Amino acid sequence: MSSEATVANSDLDALLREAHDRYRRSHPKSEAADLNARRFLPGGNTRSVLDFRPFPFRVSRANGALLTDIDGNQYIDFCGNYTAGFLGHSPDAVRRAIVDALDGGWAIGATHEKEAELAELLCERFASMDQVRFTNSGTEANLMAIGTALHVTGKTAVGVFERGYHGGVLTFGPNAAGPHHPLNVPHTYHVAAFNEMAGLDKLFDHDDLGCIVVEAVQGSGGCRPALRRRCDASGVVLILDEVMTSRLAPGGAQERFGLTPDMTTLGKYLGGGMTFGAFGGRRDLMSTFDPSAGGLLTQAGTFNNNVVSISAAIATLRHELAPARLAEVNDRGDRLRLSLDSVLSDTDLPMWVTGMGSMLCIHSSDGRYVELLFHTALEQGLHMARRGFMALSMAVDEQHCEALVNTTREWSKSVT
Ligand SMILES: Cc1ncc(COP(=O)(O)O)c(C=O)c1O
Repeated sequence: MSSEATVANSDLDALLREAHDRYRRSHPKSEAADLNARRFLPGGNTRSVLDFRPFPFRVSRANGALLTDIDGNQYIDFCGNYTAGFLGHSPDAVRRAIVDALDGGWAIGATHEKEAELAELLCERFASMDQVRFTNSGTEANLMAIGTALHVTGKTAVGVFERGYHGGVLTFGPNAAGPHHPLNVPHTYHVAAFNEMAGLDKLFDHDDLGCIVVEAVQGSGGCRPALRRRCDASGVVLILDEVMTSRLAPGGAQERFGLTPDMTTLGKYLGGGMTFGAFGGRRDLMSTFDPSAGGLLTQAGTFNNNVVSISAAIATLRHELAPARLAEVNDRGDRLRLSLDSVLSDTDLPMWVTGMGSMLCIHSSDGRYVELLFHTALEQGLHMARRGFMALSMAVDEQHCEALVNTTREWSKSVT
């Protein structure tokens, strides 16, 4: 990057201040709501990733690709609830399923038929999964999968990779020595460098290693088969976190990459936007929850089989995830990523785009650029996550993507 070619440091700060001022002027009600929320919610929210400077807009309505805030601003939503909103906001089939479910009563505190129906749909879809159990979130699914694996292997340590994110209490830093998240559950963790055979080898040097948790997209093509081989050779349970990546193909990233994990965790969009998680895998591992098979583990959770989430998930799987629709949205995401990357690499900006299919992220070595682009896009009615993350939903179309590419192009000219 040549320093003459991009705006000076102080100019970048000034541009951000101006963007914040314009944002304040167009969001007076959200600002008042933010001040009010801060009285009883620390930071004014209850999901930290949704916060941004100077304050986040408050949504009054979400439909299809569109978010409307309480100030009357509208945005095409590229964030897609961080992959949980894959179907677009408030899809009809899911809404109908939820309303029907409510008619039959909710929070029933007893088993019902729908939970087995959903289990069958998931096991048919994800080839490595013989049996499955439900949770309320992806985090919980990973916690349960790890607990199961350590119980079955009799080992105590969990292998993870740098920058791995498997939930708010399973968050790992950019280098193996940490810092890791202070709220992480207190397992012993061995953290390997990502995408490196040497790091992978070192992981298997630990005698206490019971399982490895990994996302398929973070993993490299080279390491994935090696990981499977090493797990087989050492009896380590390979847990594939497909909370996000299962959207990349009908049978998940495991189908796309030809990887067979021992256990898989799911969540997000599969619940149709309702709170959802699931963990499953080989029958001999999952039977540890089956007392009739001698299993010693029990799975507690008041809302594990809640009728609303289960019904929403069934509707999602039955009506919304046709292979052609998955392919379309993932292809659109690939095209968007390549277009944005080409716009940015035509400039001297220290910015680039990564991702796969419908999941993509704009990065910069100077976070102010991403923040500035985020605010510029918002002003044009285009909403990505503050950190540059996007998860295309099925409601985001070609024209929306074109608008984002054009906005990024115009903006990049204005800061170089
Ligand atoms: C890969 C991955 N695993 C697990 C989780 C946690 O899921 P949840 O937010 O439902 O607890 C997330 C959430 O972003 C995720 O991206």
